[in-house]
Amino acid sequence: MSVAQQIVDRHVRHIIGNYSKLPVVITRGRGSTLWDADGKSYIDLFAGFGGTILGHAHPDLVKTIQLQAQMLWQVGNQFYTEPQVRLAEAIRQASFEGRGFFCHSGAESAEAAIKLARISGGPNRKKIISMQKGFHGRTLGALSATPGPAQQGFDPLVPDFVHVPYNDLSAVEQVVDEHTAAIIVEPIQSEGGMNVPSPQYIAGLRALCDQTGAALIFDEVWTGIGRTGKFFGHQHVGVTPDIMTMGKALGGGLPVGGIWAVPQRASFFKPGTHGCTLGGNPICTAVSAEVFSVINRDNLLSRANEGGKEIVRHLQSSRHASKIADIRGRGLFIGVQLDTPDATAVLQRSIELGLIINLTQKNVLRICPALTISEAQLQQGMELLDQAMDKL
Ligand SMILES: Cc1ncc(COP(=O)(O)O)c(C=O)c1O
Repeated sequence: MSVAQQIVDRHVRHIIGNYSKLPVVITRGRGSTLWDADGKSYIDLFAGFGGTILGHAHPDLVKTIQLQAQMLWQVGNQFYTEPQVRLAEAIRQASFEGRGFFCHSGAESAEAAIKLARISGGPNRKKIISMQKGFHGRTLGALSATPGPAQQGFDPLVPDFVHVPYNDLSAVEQVVDEHTAAIIVEPIQSEGGMNVPSPQYIAGLRALCDQTGAALIFDEVWTGIGRTGKFFGHQHVGVTPDIMTMGKALGGGLPVGGIWAVPQRASFFKPGTHGCTLGGNPICTAVSAEVFSVINRDNLLSRANEGGKEIVRHLQSSRHASKIADIRGRGLFIGVQLDTPDATAVLQRSIELGLIINLTQKNVLRICPALTISEAQLQQGMELLDQAMDKL
């Protein structure tokens, strides 16, 4: 039996089967290349669901981990530590005046944002408005803001969550009122099919929150940390939230989540209101701060914009252009809606060919490589995608 098969068998024997899996055991990664247990290589155009924003084993992140691991791993949040401050300063420089809180995941950051909105809204504001086809995570609060099949079987969910269609301002107008604690929304929906709303919609949400006193929460878990060609997705439309959530790329592949909130909201989290034992731990936050430094130093926001254009150009001129119903997204956050109800065969063929992409909503391919991917490797990946699309 191959080494890979042995690992699969041991996995199945001991690990809960809550993920649908591809039959591949990944053992090593560098940049935008991964290798499996049989030595086969893959071009990675999905970057660990967006986590490895600088690619695998980026030398600066490796150096940062090594240095920090020799200094300090974990002390708990009753102490001050410098890497956590360094990360907060990096976020401030990349965004708006605010205060941060750190945890490990996107779902936890949604929990923190929802709690902060409720406590800062006072006792008469409980309602949270979220969007159909939105995705905010699997914990019960985040799940309550995530309508659809993900909720099935998990009721009762957290009360007072209301769901309305995305990119439909009048639907929000009908439900927002003086009892609304927050509107939570992705600047671009990812799981929901890579849906880009109109700038007027996002600006309209801001205006509704200003009129009613509700908090505007942007879920920047996918769109944050440079993926869209700006540090945060909301910066494309020039609308600032009261609270934003972060995850995925924030840790460059380590588990780091967090929120960033305007000071008048942030001040409602006092000792005892919220916490996370390992949140903000020195190794994770040192790496996370370094992610921002490398993006700035290597001009990777421009690279995200250029890379996105290269992908779109390639798709529009490919032999499969007629099979593409729509191309959506910004920067290196691209969704390709195929003209078929189910594109699973393309995904399967991609893996056989040595290409890692993702499929959401059954027919929307997600192409979200590391911002460090070279032009040549992106081109190579897109040529493999052409071959995979021959399956259509
Ligand atoms: C927009 C968005 N928010 C939140 C989450 C939850 O993040 P995590 O899986 O780290 O809990 C996800 C996960 O895919 C996401 O896409």
